[in-house]
Amino acid sequence: MKKTIKEVLPVLCIVTFAVTAATSLPLFILYLRNETMKSMILQDLHVWFGFAFIIFVLLRIALNRKFVGGTFKQLIRKRR
Ligand code: HEM
Repeated sequence: MKKTIKEVLPVLCIVTFAVTAATSLPLFILYLRNETMKSMILQDLHVWFGFAFIIFVLLRIALNRKFVGGTFKQLIRKRR
């Protein structure tokens, strides 16, 4: 079960990041033009996929905490 979750999480991270990044482009253009959107769908997609992305990233870090912690320790040791 844990192995399946570990395999699916990277795909979920890619998909949710792609939707968040793609929907940020029209939002950014509107922001530069100082305009607001008539339809809320892009904004809603951006916000909900953005939240989902953060949750999947945190879950991935938690499930790979040994690797993350080990790499972090190695980085600190190399700097000394
Ligand atoms: C790929 C990274 C991201 C980019 C380039 C990006 C870009 C943007 C842009 C350009 C806006 C419009 C700003 C404005 O109109 O004032 C926006 C709004 C917003 N973004 Fe992101 N964003 C990103 C990731 C996220 C993530 C991870 C979240 C997590 C929740 C998020 C949540 C929001 C929210 C809540 C708004 C305000 C929507 C509103 O107008 O009510 N964004 N973002």
